Amino acid sequence: MKGYLESHYDLESSDVVSAIDELSLWSAPFGLRLLERVRYGKAIKALDVGSGLGFPLLELAMRLGKGSEVFGIDPWVAGVARASQKLKTYGITNVQVMNGRAEQLPFTSGFFDLVVSNNGINNVADLPQTLVEIARVVKTGAQFVFTFNTDKTFLPFYEVYRETLYDLGLAQHNKALREHIFAKRRPVMLMERLVKEAGFGVKSIQDDIFYYAFADGTAMLNHFFIKLAFLESWMNIVPSGERERVFRAIEERLNKSSKESGVLRMQVPFVTFDCWRR
Ligand SMILES: C[S@@+](CC[C@H](N)C(=O)[O-])C[C@H]1O[C@@H](n2cnc3c(N)ncnc32)[C@H](O)[C@@H]1O
Repeated sequence: MKGYLESHYDLESSDVVSAIDELSLWSAPFGLRLLERVRYGKAIKALDVGSGLGFPLLELAMRLGKGSEVFGIDPWVAGVARASQKLKTYGITNVQVMNGRAEQLPFTSGFFDLVVSNNGINNVADLPQTLVEIARVVKTGAQFVFTFNTDKTFLPFYEVYRETLYDLGLAQHNKALREHIFAKRRPVMLMERLVKEAGFGVKSIQDDIFYYAFADGTAMLNHFFIKLAFLESWMNIVPSGERERVFRAIEERLNKSSKESGVLRMQVPFVTFDCWRR
């Protein structure tokens, strides 16, 4: 496996897709909470927004049973192809998975009884428009359940990143660091406001947390999923000419801290919103 500084993963490559094609440890804790919240009904119409490689889409379809019609939507071409392949392998017939964006859903108004999104809607380009679209395609009283990780995700890493930028005289990039966190991890209160503005009532917001422990920073930065899902966006915070220097310094600091405390522990706080269409 290449070191993290040289790594680049092409998400359209079938080799990469098959390597990650499992229920990732990252998706599972969110999905378990989401699946607990769903009001299971018979013969309902359900949608998974940002259905990725087919989770929780396929699980939901199997739990709802053949009488329900379930749809998945995601712009990731190779991801949708893989989810379709899984549908065939599983022999699931009540699911349609398609390429598309949450901002413009190809469904008539008032079509769905249930919409779910496991770490999906926080990844769209236009969140307010996505929420308006979801509100449009559901029936009055429909359930909307979604999960996302909050802005305190991987806090020890981001603190080290910030300190490193100060130490290297690169504090001007702290703004880009804050913007990077905000882009994918909206504060919970802001998400609640946006959901309500789009026409939903919020029944509950459940707080949860899980942890990733690593032996040290070198292990963390070379972990396959860290490189696949996070590293590129972390590196893009600083100009390309500074990346190696910054990341070697971050790695050193993380290693020092894990040596002192015996472990490098990253928290992933997340929330599950359970909403209904007013
Ligand atoms: C963190 S992944 C979650 C995937 C899956 N739900 C899971 O739990 O493993 C976020 C997903 O959102 C998708 N996504 C990004 N932009 C989107 C958009 N505008 N509309 C719908 N999905 C989008 C990505 O392609 C990706 O599959």
